[in-house]
Amino acid sequence: MKAIIGGTGVYNASSSNEIKKVSTKYGDVELDIVNIHGEDIVFLARHGKGHSVPPHLINYRANMMALKKLGVNYIYATAAVGSSNEKYAPGDIVVIKDFLDFTKSRPVTFYEGGDEPVKHVDMSDPYCKNMREKFYEKAKIMGLSIKGDAVYVCTEGPRFETAKEIQMFRNLGGDVVGMTTVPEVILAKELGMCYSTIGIITNWCTGIKDDISIHDIQASINKNKEKMTNVFIEVFKEGLDQENCNCKNSIIEL
Ligand code: HPA
Repeated sequence: MKAIIGGTGVYNASSSNEIKKVSTKYGDVELDIVNIHGEDIVFLARHGKGHSVPPHLINYRANMMALKKLGVNYIYATAAVGSSNEKYAPGDIVVIKDFLDFTKSRPVTFYEGGDEPVKHVDMSDPYCKNMREKFYEKAKIMGLSIKGDAVYVCTEGPRFETAKEIQMFRNLGGDVVGMTTVPEVILAKELGMCYSTIGIITNWCTGIKDDISIHDIQASINKNKEKMTNVFIEVFKEGLDQENCNCKNSIIEL
């Protein structure tokens, strides 16, 4: 089974065929199952359908466990991000390749110890290499321009960053800033699911250009979301194989 997680502004892939409620030990999750070209694809609105859940309060563990319970092995996620790199301007699309974690208060693992053995998860390819490559390949054929790979700085939010924080993130090698990839990417890997995030640049980060043009966010997303979804579906249609990456073997037991 394959899934799309829609970030800010991306709330539905097409008209939904079925709404499904999945119960997990972390809470209940409502998902849409959409039949596209004869195949069921799961669609999850990360912030809820009315954008009602802020990034630091999203129940990431319930979301990812619900996808696993439905038998999902492959996930494309979208993420609205600010840019701190002049190479990537509002409206551009980037493939997230790595992250820097500046979150503070979220549960970031399924492995809480206690009666369970301590487990660590390998982060050498946090975002599935195969799914990233396939996205580039299909986007090119379908005429969707991608600006390049990007390092995602994940902040706690919900506030935006100060100019000095952005300067620090730049110095550390960050390209784009958002509030949701951690712990989503980590939890996907802990459950052995292939996961890739595609970033939509919605604004310049604080202090990079004169103003941060927040009013442009929805316009940038609207311009790209349908094309991006079509590329995801094209990759899904062709088929993916977990033999082409290490995502399902990433748990390190000591
Ligand atoms: N900072 C943090 N998160 C964001 C931004 C930003 O500038 N733009 C979209 N999500």
